[in-house]
Amino acid sequence: MSKLWGGRFTKKTDQLVEEYTASILFDKELAEEDIQGSLAHVTMLGTCGILPLEDVDKIKNGLLKVQSKIRQGDIEFTVGDEDIHMNIEKALIEEVGPVGGKLHTGRSRNDQVATDMHLYLRKRVVEFVGLLNKLQEALLGQASQNLDTIVPGYTHLQRAQPILFAHHLMAYVSMFQRDIERLQDSYKRINVLPLGAGALAGTTFPIDRHFVAQQLGFDGVYENSLDAVSDRDFIIEFLSNASMIMMHLSRLSEEMILWSSTEFRFVELDDAFCTGSSIMPQKKNPDVPELVRGKTGRVYGNLFGLLTVLKSLPLAYNKDMQEDKEGMFDTVRTLQGALQLYAPMVSTMKVNKERMRQAVNQDFSNATDIADYLVNKGLPFRQAHEVIGKTVLYCIQNGKFLLDLKIEEYHQFSDLFESDIYAVLQPEQVVNARNVYGGTATGQVSAAISRAEAVKQQT
Ligand code: ARG
Repeated sequence: MSKLWGGRFTKKTDQLVEEYTASILFDKELAEEDIQGSLAHVTMLGTCGILPLEDVDKIKNGLLKVQSKIRQGDIEFTVGDEDIHMNIEKALIEEVGPVGGKLHTGRSRNDQVATDMHLYLRKRVVEFVGLLNKLQEALLGQASQNLDTIVPGYTHLQRAQPILFAHHLMAYVSMFQRDIERLQDSYKRINVLPLGAGALAGTTFPIDRHFVAQQLGFDGVYENSLDAVSDRDFIIEFLSNASMIMMHLSRLSEEMILWSSTEFRFVELDDAFCTGSSIMPQKKNPDVPELVRGKTGRVYGNLFGLLTVLKSLPLAYNKDMQEDKEGMFDTVRTLQGALQLYAPMVSTMKVNKERMRQAVNQDFSNATDIADYLVNKGLPFRQAHEVIGKTVLYCIQNGKFLLDLKIEEYHQFSDLFESDIYAVLQPEQVVNARNVYGGTATGQVSAAISRAEAVKQQT
């Protein structure tokens, strides 16, 4: 059979042009969505009296046959038929004869492809919310087990103030919660039906767009037919949400990599998530977080790729828009890979509580607390800061930490120091003193865990 649009042409398409313009090699991934959309469309053509019901039945049965053949790998897609839409239509006509040619009544590939993309991303959003929930559960599990684990907190990657390791992990739970909410919000814009827009202007047939929307579970239909076929905002929005998720994962990855280095030794990743070196027998490399960090680049690239494809593009459909697919599929696969690995990697991670504690005991991350101590004794904060700065310098010069200093040594810097200073400097005390909502005190973090768990129960 020749081209579905061959009538106007007198010459065969150049072979290279065929290959260059075809999208079947990647849009075959939309086969299920394409058939789902066609089934709803043809049902509507029947109920609106546009096609006789016996034709509708033949087409529906044919589509279901094509569907099962595709699932079994029994249909060979061809570049000559350009894309998934025409490959399926061709297969349908082969299956049921010329009546199959009635399927495309009142429809264009422009509103068809947009519909497929909406159906496809709708599923992915639900899937990614589920995967993010799993990752949050893994983080919550580790947080609950580390409510007594104190670790240095950093700013500028310099020791700043001690915090609970649980508190650190809960920061990521909050970040992934925002990602979940962004995805859920985007669903409103994804779950809108473009079909019925025709090529760009609507259709002369008395179709019922709302019926199709209802059949396919869409919350509504596009207001404007030009916008319906030209809009790729929902894909850009998805790529942007995916970029944000990858950005969060890349930050966690960077920390995992640092924490599992010999210099930190704060955590050990399970063997199942690491690989070895072909030459250095001692190596255990954190390949998974490294690759997640690295693959963040391609996800950003896909976002910028599509933003640039759409830039200055006149309305309505342009072939340029076919370029929306490969980047989207690549981002979906990249995100799936990262999220599927992350939850088990987090829950199997071993936390080296002793090593973290040792780190806290050997730093000056309690310095803010003795400054606050002097403030409580009446010294203005600026002066207290200066006094403690000098005290820390003295410690560094003498190879000591704040808890090692005798009260006489403290008195060289201020008369306000009393023996209660030693209790103030204990890491537990330093942590628990930060008893504000959202702070690192044990009670606050355990309340934060309960709140996050309650949110998970609701979803
Ligand atoms: N393969 C095309 C795409 O992905 C489908 C729409 C083609 N429409 C057209 N008028 N050529 O964008």
